[in-house]
Order: sequence, then C-alpha cells, then structure tokens
Amino acid sequence: MMPLIAPSVLAADFANLQAEIEMINDSESDLIHVDIMDGVFVPNISMGLPVVEAIRKHAKKPLDVHLMIVNPDQYLGAFQKAGAAHITVHIEACPHLHRTIQTIKGLGCRAGVALNPHTPVSQLEDIIRDVDIVLLMSVNPGFGGQSFIENTYAKVEKLKKLIVETGAHAKIEIDGGVSMENAKKLFDVGALILVAGNFVFSSKNPKETIKRLKNIG
Ligand code: DX5
Ligand code: ZN
Repeated sequence: MMPLIAPSVLAADFANLQAEIEMINDSESDLIHVDIMDGVFVPNISMGLPVVEAIRKHAKKPLDVHLMIVNPDQYLGAFQKAGAAHITVHIEACPHLHRTIQTIKGLGCRAGVALNPHTPVSQLEDIIRDVDIVLLMSVNPGFGGQSFIENTYAKVEKLKKLIVETGAHAKIEIDGGVSMENAKKLFDVGALILVAGNFVFSSKNPKETIKRLKNIG
C-alpha cells in the first residue's frame, strides 16, 4: 500500500496556476488539495469559488477542497458546482455536523471532517461511521509553511483505533508541515492521505518530491 499524495495549491505560484496544475497532473499525486480561508474561521484569506473553477478546468486529479470557513453549509452546493470531489468542513465550525455531512454526500461528493490540533478525536465517536475522510490538522490552520505538531502521531493512533472499533471506513488525512521527516511515520501509524504544500512547491523539483512522498512505504 502507498499513501495518497495531495499537493496543496496554497503554496503554488498563483500567477502561474495553470502550469502548477499541469505539473500536478503530470506527477504521481492522487489529489489536488485546495484551501479555502475566509478570514473569520482562520486569520487569513486564500481563494474562493472562481479560483476553484479555474483550477478545475485544468485539473486531471480530483479536487480535495478544505473549507476553513464559518457557516460552510451556505456554500456546499457552490463548491460542488465549482468542481470539488471531496468537501471537508471543520468540526469547530459545524454545530449541525451530521446534517452538513449528509448534505455533502447528497451532492455526490466525498464528505470530510477536519479537526484543529486541540480538538480531541473522541468528538468523532458519533459521526465517524458517516464520514469518508477525517482530516487531522498537524498545524494551526491558516497558513502554509508551519512546523509539524508532534502530538499528531498520537491522534492518528487514537483515530485509527476508533475507526477499527466502530467498523468505520473513513480515511485519515494529515494536513500541515508534512515532509519526508514525518511522512513515513504518519503512514505507518495509519494516515492514508498526506497533504503537502511548501515541502512540494519550495523544492527544486516538485514532481520528484511528490514521487518521493508517494514511495515512502
Ligand atoms: C493550512 C492548510 C494547509 C497548508 C499546508 O491551513 O490547511 O493545507 O496548505 O501547507 P504546508 O504543507 O506548507 O504546511
Ligand atoms: Zn488544507
């Protein structure tokens, strides 16, 4: 088994987005991770629907859309129309998470739930069987290029245990500070999808970096 690699376009050159997407298309990556920040849920603003549509026009890999926004329910349909294959919402932004997850699935998308670094995995107990993806933030959301929080390994182990015990099918995704230093250990403890922004796009040869991440096993 190999991990699924999801380069995060947040770290790409926005003025050359088409070339960046073509690089990803041409690489061994499995998904394209798209970070949506609203300046309210997180202290940064990234990109919105028109950019997702523009990415979709060139993308040959499914778009893994990570919504770091308040009131995501209001925009789920719009992100599906813009081209999202996976839609991940934050548990901290969803008072009616069960309903939100059902809405995402009703749109024909894979449904993900993201947890901030301080949010315990135990909060997923009554929703784990309904979600396709659990995204564990391994940095505080809002910015690329931050350093990986070591407690993430323990969270992956707890989450893996919860998934096995409940017979759930959710895939574990890790987002923030992923590099060759932690990728293998994350995969070994049970993470399947690895998001990587700066590590890929700041490297000399991003395609080769993606290949190295993909082949850590
Ligand atoms: C952070 C975003 C991440 C970010 C990761 O809030 O959710 O997806 O792009 O970037 P790196 O890999 O540089 O930490
Ligand atoms: Zn993200």
